Amino acid sequence: MNNFDFYNPTRIVFGENTIAQLDQLVAKDAKILLLYGGQSAKKTGTLDEVKVALGDRQVQEFGGIEPNPTYETLMKAVMLIREQQFDFLLAVGGGSVIDGTKFIAAAALFDKEQDPWSIMENYGNNIKQALPFGSVLTLPATGSEMNNGGVVTHKAKQAKLPFRSPLVYPQFSILDPVKTYTLPERQIANGVVDAFVHTVEQYLTYPVDGMVQDRFAEGLLQTLIEIGPKALAEPQNYSVRANIMWAATMALNGLIGAGVPQDWATHMVGHELTARHGIDHARTLAIVLPGMLQIRKQSKAAKLKQYAERVWLITEGSDEQKIDAAIAKTEAFFEQMGIGTHLSDYGLDESTVAPLIEQLTKHGMITLGEHGDVTPEMSQEVLISRL
Ligand code: NZQ
Ligand code: ZN
Repeated sequence: MNNFDFYNPTRIVFGENTIAQLDQLVAKDAKILLLYGGQSAKKTGTLDEVKVALGDRQVQEFGGIEPNPTYETLMKAVMLIREQQFDFLLAVGGGSVIDGTKFIAAAALFDKEQDPWSIMENYGNNIKQALPFGSVLTLPATGSEMNNGGVVTHKAKQAKLPFRSPLVYPQFSILDPVKTYTLPERQIANGVVDAFVHTVEQYLTYPVDGMVQDRFAEGLLQTLIEIGPKALAEPQNYSVRANIMWAATMALNGLIGAGVPQDWATHMVGHELTARHGIDHARTLAIVLPGMLQIRKQSKAAKLKQYAERVWLITEGSDEQKIDAAIAKTEAFFEQMGIGTHLSDYGLDESTVAPLIEQLTKHGMITLGEHGDVTPEMSQEVLISRL
């Protein structure tokens, strides 16, 4: 196992009817900016529930954080905070609202002489301070509720970049599985696939004898395979939603990735697809991952065989046949969740590949993967294999 330093200070309050606990979690004298997305938090009543729980604290709302949150929108909240001196942020929503809140928390206290987009250009390394914040999660998918990363899109630049900093862990996150009942099928499918691919990015690399990490990862993958389809079929099944929610959080809170190599090439290529073509994040991963596994199967052979045998319980055939069968089953699982796995499913043809690779290169994503050997040429080969 590799050396590691694992730190995760986010408090998780999990279960039905837990929003009321905001009263204990947020300081009585906090001046709060309540951040949310389009309409869902209002329509579902979650926003009202949050406001009731906050009682007579000073609260102002900032709505309109879009899926794949944009720098342009987030900067409006930053200006509001600088004008009115809010001292606590509360995000109510999915990964986009929480990621957006992380950026806002850091940007609000960023050097006023500099454009906060520089946070993204430095992948968060230049964050020196951030406002404290908490979250109420309404969409299990990204793990943003218990990690220190975020992804922000600059509309004008057509750039979608990730950042991270130990200063942007949520202080707390409230996870009430009942709040996911209102999710459209498309979003729950996205959530299951995103959590699945997060696990794969930290598990399907090369063996370092991280036995605990491997077994945890395999448990998460098997859980998602087992109950993902049920989450679609039975939207009000508490047990299924609770387990999806906790699996998605555990998939990206640092635990399974500590002490093991990590890949993330699928995510970086996927981000370009979202930035250029607006395809949902998880759907980009479902397109790219099978190609990444197929084209890199030599360098990933040992873990792919383990994945085939332990996650998909494939026992027949040669090692190569097991690996091919596991990759085929992965793709079939995404399709079973109702997610197209080819560029053509989204109306994209070969002519779209070169501009995507150009953007990827421009963003410095030229030595991706656990060995740093995923060059733009290889990413291009992956995309072409997914037409
Ligand atoms: O905007 P509203 O009206 O609120 O609707 C949202 C949005 O349209 C809706 N929704 C959320 N909760 C709902 C609901 N609708 C009904 N009932 C509910 N309970 O769902 C739509 C999608 O929401 P969004 O937050 O965009 O989805 P998700 O949680 O999948 O987040 C995706 C973003 O997270 C980033 C992605 O790149 C993307 O920008 N990621 C963040 C990561 C992280 N912080 O660690 C890692 C991930 O790999 C990912 O890159
Ligand atoms: Zn993801």
